[in-house]
Parts: sequence; C-alpha cells; structure tokens
Amino acid sequence: MNVTVRKYRSDDYASCVALSRQLAEHHADIYEVSTDIIKPQDRWLDELMSKEGFTGFWVAEIESNIVGFCGLFVYGEEGEIEPVVVANSVRNHGIGTKLVKCVTKEATKKKVRYLSIRPVARNKRAIDLFIRLGFDTIGHLDLFQDLSSHDDRTWKSGLAIHGNKLKY
Ligand SMILES: CC(C)(COP(=O)(O)OP(=O)(O)OC[C@H]1O[C@@H](n2cnc3c(N)ncnc32)[C@H](O)[C@@H]1OP(=O)(O)O)[C@@H](O)C(=O)NCCC(=O)NCCS
Repeated sequence: MNVTVRKYRSDDYASCVALSRQLAEHHADIYEVSTDIIKPQDRWLDELMSKEGFTGFWVAEIESNIVGFCGLFVYGEEGEIEPVVVANSVRNHGIGTKLVKCVTKEATKKKVRYLSIRPVARNKRAIDLFIRLGFDTIGHLDLFQDLSSHDDRTWKSGLAIHGNKLKY
C-alpha cells in the first residue's frame, strides 16, 4: 500500500469532512448511541482550523484519495494531536502510525516538549496504538459523573487508577 503523508490543502476539505464523520460514527458506535446525534462535521472542521494554537492538518493519500488526516495544536512547549482518523476501509495498515509519527516530528520541530493525544476512554484500539507510539504518560484525568436521571446509558467497569475503580 503506497501511502503518502503530506500537508493539507484546501481541496482536501470535503474528504476530511467525510473522515470526521467516520470518527464521530466510531465514537457513537463504541458508546452505543445513535448516529442521529452526530452534528454536521464541516462545522467541526472549521472550528478546529480557527481554534487557538492550530498549526495545520496532515493528510494520508493513496493514489490521490485522502484516506486519513491528523491535526496539530501548539501552545508554547505543549502540543496536542487532534484529530487522528483513518478511513474504515484501510485501517490496520500502518496509516495511523504514519500520520502520528509525521505530526510528532512536526511537533518536535516546533520545540514542543509535552505532546498529548486524548482518545476517549473506550477507544481501546486507539489507546493501545498511541501507547505503543510513545504516549505512555498520563497528564490530566477527565473525570465526570452522569447526572442524568435516565437509565439509558450503561457504563463499563474494569479500569482503575491509584487503586480506585472507575467506569468508562
Ligand atoms: C485509531 C486509528 C487512527 C488508527 O489508525 P490505523 O491506520 O488503523 O493504525 P495502524 O494501522 O497504524 O495501527 C493499528 C494496528 O494495525 C497494526 N498494523 C500497523 N501496520 C500494519 C501493517 N502493515 N499490516 C498489518 N497490521 C498493521 C498495528 O500494529 C496496530 O495494531 P493494534 O491494533 O494491535 O494496535 C484508526 O483506527 C481510526 O481512525 N479509528 C477511528 C477514529 C479514532 O478512534 N481515532 C482516534 C481518536 S483519538
């Protein structure tokens, strides 16, 4: 599979919107919620590009088809990779690895010291991959409680930190 990773161009926009939708669908799938709640992804992409710290997107291309993309935000010596997504049809072929490595290199060039990535807690495959790629230190924990009186969500158990059992 001949994959090229290059800087995003404005004509990649529609492909990246379609990939963003796949990312949102993946999250809906792992959290067992309806895909009806997915908002238009063009707005999300525009929001990302106008957010403070945005330095750019990089895309993965196979024969002129965009099959993945990744973004980098930099705030002084801190950086964040957001998002990273690879098309369903070509996952598990090393493209996510290529994208993350490329953006990590860009972050290094920009003198980022602490580079983070924030997968949702249920995204085990992505977490496994990112840990293997060197993201093996936890910074902040994003804890929440479900204040809804509805019993429409079931949370999984089996994670722990500092000996505390957590749902996810
Ligand atoms: C997470 C995601 C970006 C990873 O992209 P990917 O292209 O599938 O990642 P890779 O192929 O580099 O690595 C995935 C697996 O394939 C394996 N792999 C890598 N190269 C391979 C190759 N040439 N042949 C076979 N397997 C390979 C890796 O070892 C890895 O194994 P693991 O599942 O045990 O971790 C992709 O699955 C995705 O878009 N998921 C939905 C969106 C998402 O969850 N994004 C992350 C939000 S933070």
